[in-house]
Amino acid sequence: RLTPTPADKFSFGLWTVGWQGRDPFGDATRPPLDPVEVVGRLAELGAYGVTFHDDDLIPFGASEAERAAMISRFRAALDAHSLEVPMATTNLFTHPVFKDGAFTANDRDVRRYALRKTIRNIDLAVELGASVYVAWGGREGAESGAAKDVRVALDRLAEAFDLLGQYVTEQRYPIRFAIEPKPNEPRGDILLPTIGHALAFIGELEYPELVGVNPEVGHEQMAGLNFAHGIAQALWHDKLFHIDLNGQNGPRFDQDLRFGGGDLRQAFWLVDVLEHGGYQGPRHFDFKPARTENAAGVWEAAAACMRNYLILAERARAFRADEQVRQALRDSRLDELAKPTAADGLAALLADRSSFEDFDVEAAGERGMAFERLDQLALEHLLGTR
Ligand code: GCO
Ligand code: MN
Ligand code: MN
Repeated sequence: RLTPTPADKFSFGLWTVGWQGRDPFGDATRPPLDPVEVVGRLAELGAYGVTFHDDDLIPFGASEAERAAMISRFRAALDAHSLEVPMATTNLFTHPVFKDGAFTANDRDVRRYALRKTIRNIDLAVELGASVYVAWGGREGAESGAAKDVRVALDRLAEAFDLLGQYVTEQRYPIRFAIEPKPNEPRGDILLPTIGHALAFIGELEYPELVGVNPEVGHEQMAGLNFAHGIAQALWHDKLFHIDLNGQNGPRFDQDLRFGGGDLRQAFWLVDVLEHGGYQGPRHFDFKPARTENAAGVWEAAAACMRNYLILAERARAFRADEQVRQALRDSRLDELAKPTAADGLAALLADRSSFEDFDVEAAGERGMAFERLDQLALEHLLGTR
């Protein structure tokens, strides 16, 4: 079953298929897309949701009347195509006012403006039914050492999330925040560069239960990290509130390839952990259709993101169901990893001579782990030869 349906919970940002191909070296290669057209196309392709930055939907600086008109056209399109808005976010990076950041800009007036811009769009997000609000701090960072006092900037960042947490609590909004880590680009170094940094930060907030993470495939891989491992840890902390799926070829600029492009093995293990690790949220694609493509290529790439996810989900299911894989997992003692190390308690561990005094270290050191066979089976499932 490789044809997406709304039950698969695939969603796309307006800014993804709508990306016009502007990069630091070249102009747009495609005309703008009307959000109303995006809604129709995504529904036709089998997606269930669409997400947006405030400025994707309502051009920056639009009047109140223009804003209301845009929202009502968009809402009518959502209703007509039964598309949901599971998530929304704020553009706190395009306008020059955000050149030194938003919640952590050195200028206090910019920080206050950023909070008001965010709160205004949270109201709209909730009105449209979103249950997750993403915060990507793309401009929260620095290019040089003394320009940002990182400890003080983290105070301001925490202050921002505490104020936002207070706001949604007072409004009784059923929405939670998801911080999106990224190591660099557009800033030389960005605050909360990885999943781990974000998780540690969340633990210091006033409303930690309202804040989780929105990890993006390419962002962790830019830092040379294993994305599937990061996702497994976010799930372990119960903090995987949302996810940005795309593709990346190792540490270099943020490629935002369609899902399935870039490191395919990591994509396989990612889908495996999402499908078998209890994640229930949207499968959200945050990719940029290559700037070489025209409109046909854009929709081809969007369809491919979903198809590739479904192919990998099918491959991961076949891997987990294969009797030889199950045996290989036992041979690699994954079942033993699942047993607590000292369910008998510390005193019993200390009294157990077989755990130390009589333990045959040499024999244990000689055991093979049988991981090579296990990984070869995985590779063959991934390549479709099993
Ligand atoms: C990136 C980021 C952005 C954010 C989005 C949400 O590619 O660097 O992923 O796309 O996800 O702007 O704010
Ligand atoms: Mn993203
Ligand atoms: Mn990205």
